[in-house]
Amino acid sequence: MALRIFLAGASGAIGRRLVPLLRRAGHTVVGTTRVPEKAETLRALGAEPVVVDMFDAETLMRAVAAARPAVVIHQLTDLPPGLDPSRMEEATARNARIRDEGTRNLVRAALGAGARRLVAQSIAWAYAPGPEPHSEEDPLEVNAEGRRGVTVRGVAALENRVLNSPPLEGIVLRYGQIHGPGTGADTPRGAAPLHVDAAAHAALLAVERGAPGIYNIAEPNGYITTDKARRELGFSADFRLPA
Ligand SMILES: NC(=O)c1ccc[n+]([C@@H]2O[C@H](COP(=O)([O-])OP(=O)(O)OC[C@H]3O[C@@H](n4cnc5c(N)ncnc54)[C@H](OP(=O)(O)O)[C@@H]3O)[C@@H](O)[C@H]2O)c1
Repeated sequence: MALRIFLAGASGAIGRRLVPLLRRAGHTVVGTTRVPEKAETLRALGAEPVVVDMFDAETLMRAVAAARPAVVIHQLTDLPPGLDPSRMEEATARNARIRDEGTRNLVRAALGAGARRLVAQSIAWAYAPGPEPHSEEDPLEVNAEGRRGVTVRGVAALENRVLNSPPLEGIVLRYGQIHGPGTGADTPRGAAPLHVDAAAHAALLAVERGAPGIYNIAEPNGYITTDKARRELGFSADFRLPA
């Protein structure tokens, strides 16, 4: 069924791969950026662009209401290109803020607009130390110190908000470390690598099927299990957009 979709973060690494996928599946996409100059890029990809900052709650509320979405997708991060190590200290706090405050504003706008489902990007490397591979029920390391603690508590705030805002059907995609076009990494990296096209495809699958809840999304690895996503969403880490 063709759906109206509000994609927050359409201009990001995952968002830019997701817009064409959603369009090919027959959906209508309203996609966000804060940067007016990126609006034409979004239009060329097939989205109707809207320029809005997630921290501007009132404008966001109006933008989501005007889009009349059945589904809202959250692909927001605030990270430096290529995860530049010299900028990660400051970026960690900004990224946690968008996960907490940005998600809060987006959820409120989604509820106000009467959206049915919310699909949100999270990360798959926030688990507390314990037996591996981790499944979705394993605890997050919310008491971690330093930068990791800031990140994990931001993730927990995002996930709690997405999963506990009835009547929204909340789906959390815990992505592994992405690689591929636009990510700054040409080859797999990290404990649970994930190609950006497979990440985007998982979001399309979550829009169209799957029960509310949490799904680990990555290539086969020893750190996390992705059995649930493969079984319930039909996720395949081999998915690629045509060149
Ligand atoms: N799981 C993973 O491994 C993972 C996931 C995501 C990103 N990354 C990495 O992070 C780096 C940057 O990635 P990226 O370019 O996708 O991320 P990004 O530049 O941080 O942007 C992601 C999206 O969020 C939007 N955004 C950020 N803050 C916002 C705000 N306050 N209000 C509204 N929109 C906001 C951006 O919109 P604007 O157009 O307004 O900037 C963009 O659409 C890359 O190296 C990428 O590989 C890794």
